[in-house]
Amino acid sequence: MTQKFDFHVNGKPVSVALDNEETPLLNVLRNEFGLMGTRFGCGLEQCGCCMVLIDGQPEKSCSKPVWSVAGKTVTTVEGLGTPERPHPLQQALLDEQAGQCGYCLAGILISAKALLARNLSPTRPEIAAALDDNICRCGSHNRIIRAVQKAAAQMRAGAQT
Ligand code: FES
Ligand code: FES
Repeated sequence: MTQKFDFHVNGKPVSVALDNEETPLLNVLRNEFGLMGTRFGCGLEQCGCCMVLIDGQPEKSCSKPVWSVAGKTVTTVEGLGTPERPHPLQQALLDEQAGQCGYCLAGILISAKALLARNLSPTRPEIAAALDDNICRCGSHNRIIRAVQKAAAQMRAGAQT
């Protein structure tokens, strides 16, 4: 039986009708809404590249059934910034040339965004802990952590002006 699910994605109300309420949120974002920034990696909650914010909390969307986000707010990497107005985290990743293949970066941006929302002065161990669920197969961890530190500093400076 087809069911309708209503929620918000990147600040806009959305609605989707699906036969299977267990359809993963990741599939809905990519296949129904064309939001291709959120990636499929393992599909087993092991790699973190499918991370999105659900009501502000980082969650893996590959195994999150669509029914569980009804009435909630979902933020994908597309909701962080635009090429014209990138989020400080996006700009810092570019500045530090943090990505190699880039496949992990959408998930990393989401985890880092959640971290900086609760702690704008994270230590290196705190950043590493926040990104613990995000695997980077290219081994760019040091540059990624540097980028998060840089974005945090810029956001702190922005908050003071
Ligand atoms: S694709 Fe979701 S954790 Fe790997
Ligand atoms: S930059 Fe390639 S997986 Fe992280």
